[in-house]
Amino acid sequence: MNREDFPLLKEEIIYFDNSATSLKPKCVIDKMADYYTNYPANAHRGDYDLSYKVDQEYEETRELVKKFINAKYLEEIVFTSGTTESLNMIVNGFFEPLLEAGDEVLLTTSEHASNILPWFRLANKKGIKLNYIPLDNNYYVTIDNLKKVITPQTKVISIAGITNVIGDIRPVKEICKLAHENNVFVVLDGAQMVPHCKVDVKDLDVDFLAFSAHKMCGPTGVGVLYGKKELLEHLEPTLLGGGMNESFDNPSEIYLKELPTRLEAGTRNISGVIGFGEAIKYLEKIGMDNIHKREHDLRKYLIDKLLLLKHIDIINIESDSGIVTFNVSNIFSQDVAYYLNKYNICVRAGNHCAKILKSSVGVNNTVRVSIYFYNTYEEIDNLVELLSDYDKIVKEMI
Ligand code: ALA
Repeated sequence: MNREDFPLLKEEIIYFDNSATSLKPKCVIDKMADYYTNYPANAHRGDYDLSYKVDQEYEETRELVKKFINAKYLEEIVFTSGTTESLNMIVNGFFEPLLEAGDEVLLTTSEHASNILPWFRLANKKGIKLNYIPLDNNYYVTIDNLKKVITPQTKVISIAGITNVIGDIRPVKEICKLAHENNVFVVLDGAQMVPHCKVDVKDLDVDFLAFSAHKMCGPTGVGVLYGKKELLEHLEPTLLGGGMNESFDNPSEIYLKELPTRLEAGTRNISGVIGFGEAIKYLEKIGMDNIHKREHDLRKYLIDKLLLLKHIDIINIESDSGIVTFNVSNIFSQDVAYYLNKYNICVRAGNHCAKILKSSVGVNNTVRVSIYFYNTYEEIDNLVELLSDYDKIVKEMI
């Protein structure tokens, strides 16, 4: 699907590492080159035509993001460097001043480092307690299990919408409903979800959402922090500098601008934001429902074939995203990745930044195939053919 839009796909390469980052279509690359070539001015600072065009393009992306996730207000969309920065801003700028020793935050063991480490640091700093929602036999979060761990001390649930190793799609709407009935905030790590299915923040009723452009056909170094306006108003900037202040005369007289500007200090990744706008237009043209269905079909095709191979142990048979995680019997995952690389197949191996997932799954290192809409059935056939010959893998893995 749409393969001709991706310059890299003209080469003999099979790219199955889309959860790490997606490929970029030519329209996004061209848009960024156009900015650098024809109007490379700063944003929100100049009183000349070039700069005015930059402002327009930059703010158009904000409009596109607002519409894409169905946010209520434009001010709820803050540009960051990516999911990691967005999550750190939420934890350090909003929850650090709010939470007190003894307050509880619920996570899961399958979260990515970006949704664990900021909370670990806050736990060490302020004495908040961290607890984990138990995962079921398929490593899913269920509402029943969530009910078991919500206590009167619980203040936040911070989880991924789709996890980056198990690839399970969480029941976010139901989680938010239960959370809000208990006066608990929900932070959603959308890094693996927003690129792959329709995410409607009003319908889900999430309090905060973080995601990255580079996993959804956009450039690296750009992401979004979404927060409900009434909450974002209380998020203290973790970065101070130019562009975000109204005036300052001395330490007790610092006046900041309104949202979202006060959370976007310094010169932003302007080309990235402009390229991101193009990526959103591109994805919308294809349709998020079509993207989700395509990945679902490709995944099923891959799983059905892998299930026939006795030496392959699939970790997440039941998940419903484009992420398929497995091991080849008695072979270290990185050796499998090295073997596939000889045939120009790109997969990721290792712990995938989900370092405490081992406590639930029992294995630390896995091979991960992560599919996007431009992958094909033929590519899956190639992969499976290479994986089906155990002796060949052993012979060629080093
Ligand atoms: N978070 C990215 C991944 O899962 C880098 O590969």
